[in-house]
Amino acid sequence: MKREEIVIPAEAIARQRDFQEKIKALFSARQAHPLACVETFGCQQNVADGQRIMGMLAACGFTFTEEAREADLVLLNTCAIREHAEQRVFGNLGILTHSKRENPEQIIVLCGCMAQEPRVAERVKQSYRLVDLVFGPQALWKFPELLWQVCETRKRVFSIDDEHGGIAEGLPVVRERGVKAWVSIMYGCNNFCSYCIVPYVRGRERSRDPAAVLAEVRELVEAGYRDITLLGQNVNSYGNDLDAGYHFPDLLRDIDQIPGDYWIRFMSSHPKDATPQLFDTMADCAHVAKQLHLPFQSGNNRVLGEMNRRYTREKYLELIHYARSRMPGLVLTSDVIIGFPGETRAEAMDTVSLVEEVGFDALFTFLYSPRPGTKAAAMPDPTPREEKQRWFDQLLEVQNAHSAAIHAGYVGKTLRVLADGESGDEAYPLSSRTEGNRLVRLKGDKSLIGQFLHVKITGSNTWALYGEPV
Ligand code: 5AD
Ligand code: SF4
Repeated sequence: MKREEIVIPAEAIARQRDFQEKIKALFSARQAHPLACVETFGCQQNVADGQRIMGMLAACGFTFTEEAREADLVLLNTCAIREHAEQRVFGNLGILTHSKRENPEQIIVLCGCMAQEPRVAERVKQSYRLVDLVFGPQALWKFPELLWQVCETRKRVFSIDDEHGGIAEGLPVVRERGVKAWVSIMYGCNNFCSYCIVPYVRGRERSRDPAAVLAEVRELVEAGYRDITLLGQNVNSYGNDLDAGYHFPDLLRDIDQIPGDYWIRFMSSHPKDATPQLFDTMADCAHVAKQLHLPFQSGNNRVLGEMNRRYTREKYLELIHYARSRMPGLVLTSDVIIGFPGETRAEAMDTVSLVEEVGFDALFTFLYSPRPGTKAAAMPDPTPREEKQRWFDQLLEVQNAHSAAIHAGYVGKTLRVLADGESGDEAYPLSSRTEGNRLVRLKGDKSLIGQFLHVKITGSNTWALYGEPV
């Protein structure tokens, strides 16, 4: 598709503001303060979408509550990545039948990745009549219009047709207060890893204009955000669709020029598109945190082939080797799937051995979950779950021991951290992050939140470090 067809025209976005005003007027005629309860599931991309949804709701006159029962509108911003995430949403819908019975005027909205799956939309249509509005990630920008349709007609609205998706700039946003912010730099995915539902629900890869990204990051830094994460399913293909010879490392270098005291991170990176140039750029740019999340998924080449990942174990190890040579002390994390259809025990142990060989700081480990409609879901999968669970536990054991050892190595050192909130731990009431994004629980006063501090590390376990300001 041509760029003009992808970028949603400013007039179309402006029209959404009219719908926001209409909704505001409608509610204020009825009562003073409509309440919305927004629950977001899943990844950071979804969290970022949730912040736009809240921005649009705020523009419609809503304030927010955590209590679904007292809300005029309940919105579930869903995730489809694994079956468990979907079950939770259906569980929540079940619970909402009670609040809807008490308050039949309550508007119930289902959006996000699950909503874009035809199978789910059909099930909601047939069996969850309490849901008033269903829309997928591609329709996010026209939420005010869809909501207005529901308010005006009191009929159920389903908007899940657009499978490619556009780029909408200038949507309102309600950000979490504090020092962390998320910036989507691109949407969608073209990779079609055989296990993954994302390309089916988030449409084709499309990059925001560099100028728009730069303006947003600059605004965030000026507003006091100190830990900014650039988001995309595969940030390494940023810019490919712009046909301007401008790629992710160029964006990083331009962002790095923005003055201020802040860290820039990014996720996720696909190893097939990670280049030495990316690591050179990370090494050169002072604001870019020396931290890399580079999902490898499997340590076995046959499985990688079946997953359609388009790199090998050897290529992955080479990348890590080069990245570490440019950035000694680089903090490395990854995603792994255990139990892909047809994976043997020996193949799963290749994953364990890769984990041992690389020595990740932390790992996000997942048991394979079949997603209807993906290629892998149709592959024979003879291994019993209990067997896969044993491989999974073995992997976890290796990783946990390693994380604990790496963390123990920090004890006695002085590190620079960013205090980012309260920890909920009485003895170490502050939470903070190192440049490598390791969690450090701190002794100290709330007034330190938002500041970069030097802290002495006094203790550690598998999941966190403990320390005090020096
Ligand atoms: N089953 C299990 N894990 C999955 N992931 C993606 N799809 C699946 C699936 N069907 C994992 C991958 C990805 C992370 C976000 O979720 O490891 O990197
Ligand atoms: Fe899914 Fe692969 Fe795209 Fe990541 S790169 S979202 S795992 S298809």
